[in-house]
Amino acid sequence: MPGAEQSTSATPSPHAPPGTARVLVASNRGPVAFASGPDGELVLRRGAGGLVSGLSQAAADAPAEARPMVWVCAALCDPDRRAARAAPGGRLDLAGYDTGGAAVRMLDVDRTVFDRAYNAVANRVLWFVQHLLYAPASQPVFGPTFRRDWAAYETFNAMFAEALADEAAPGASVIVQDYHLTLVPGQLRRLRPDLRIAHFSHTPWAPAGYFRMLPDDVGEQILRGMLGADRIGFLTDAWADAFEECARGLPGVRVGPRELVVAAPAAPAAGPTPEPRMVRIGVHPLGVDAGELRGRAAAADVAARVAELEKLVEGRRLIVRVDRTELSKNIVRGLSAYRELLRSRPQWRGKVVHLVCAYPSRHDLPEYREYTASIQRLAAEIDDEFAEDRWRPLRLELSDDYPRSIAALCLAEVLVVNPIRDGMNLVAKEGPVLSRRDAVLVLSREAGACAELGGAALVVNPFDIQATAQALHDALVMAPADRRRRAGELAAAAGRLPPRTWFTDQLAALAADR
Ligand code: F6P
Repeated sequence: MPGAEQSTSATPSPHAPPGTARVLVASNRGPVAFASGPDGELVLRRGAGGLVSGLSQAAADAPAEARPMVWVCAALCDPDRRAARAAPGGRLDLAGYDTGGAAVRMLDVDRTVFDRAYNAVANRVLWFVQHLLYAPASQPVFGPTFRRDWAAYETFNAMFAEALADEAAPGASVIVQDYHLTLVPGQLRRLRPDLRIAHFSHTPWAPAGYFRMLPDDVGEQILRGMLGADRIGFLTDAWADAFEECARGLPGVRVGPRELVVAAPAAPAAGPTPEPRMVRIGVHPLGVDAGELRGRAAAADVAARVAELEKLVEGRRLIVRVDRTELSKNIVRGLSAYRELLRSRPQWRGKVVHLVCAYPSRHDLPEYREYTASIQRLAAEIDDEFAEDRWRPLRLELSDDYPRSIAALCLAEVLVVNPIRDGMNLVAKEGPVLSRRDAVLVLSREAGACAELGGAALVVNPFDIQATAQALHDALVMAPADRRRRAGELAAAAGRLPPRTWFTDQLAALAADR
């Protein structure tokens, strides 16, 4: 969930000297981040976000054979860059910082290179492609500016590949995360053919026809970059199928079910014919650590937020959503569906409150700032249309407050998770684990989580606001026994593959393929 904290009770990092790491993780966002304190001093914070909190837990709990572990990440802001520059070789653990379960090498990426790679390419193009966010009548347009940005993305990826090559022990396992780093496996294989390399996507994968919007050479570079790995991982079968479909057209690549055979580059005239390489595709759904979450929910700050929310709701029915202000989360259509519920079923007016926690995200991109503004506009319109003296239909929270998010999920009677498309959506799993009121989950069929939770949720087409309004109504009137049964099934499924298992399963699969 947005703002998710990480465990600070991690095993201390082992100060592995460069060249000795047996397991390496690479991700754009790292487990720690820095801010500038009142006197300009560096203040260490825990990194935020689903990927980071899951991986941090996994790193803290990793088995002995996975150590020493090094996590390579980018400096995301000026204080990060200062800290990375001051640490020996960018190694924050060697500079004395508590980095959790893994040693951390933070890359001092030039601000412009970072902005072009992260904002312009990863978030504005690759994220949009994988989540089908373009309106193709006008977007995307790939011209010279995109080529300039793409060159920065290549540089950014190469920095990761070089750092990983430098930190890894002979034969070490490397797990590269997500769409920011699609070129790393290929680049790293060229530098260190001895390593076992995996790439894992936390996003969906686009259908082949949509992926083909990317310039042909760029699409091919991405696919071939990922095919530099020994294993490529996805959260669901649907995303793995879509990737295989995209790779099917590549010359020299044979696609079988869940494995691809990649022809080796042409041999020098006199040399032996090089062997083709096998790349395996793995599906590893990520769940939540139920014990950890429930333990966090028992803390005093959550109890205080529970009391505040109970006062706000005054015994009415509570519909909750918790998201980043992210275009793919479909918050605007979710609000439209709530408005439709109140318009078409007036019996709910005065009896229900919708708490919308929509936390800031990627505000460097104009699309995200505009999206936040449109959420605010629609929330104000709903308030204007329905509010009465003693009842406000909706509460919109735009600031990040982790204890409040937990409290909201504890108290929800209906949880709305309606993304246009989502790799998994961990809120759909956190909600059932935390629920104290047998929350009914209204879940988009386009969320990866639907593959595991769809049987016990009310599944909706995220574009259909009338059907979503109907699902909200059905959730509110559902019989208690039905709610209880579904809530039990959802919670059991959500906790089945906690981050530790998700991570060790991938390491084991990587080793088993040897
Ligand atoms: O895969 C998507 C993801 O990396 C999530 O794990 C995470 O919550 C989100 O994107 C964060 O994005 P950003 O690092 O741009 O804030």
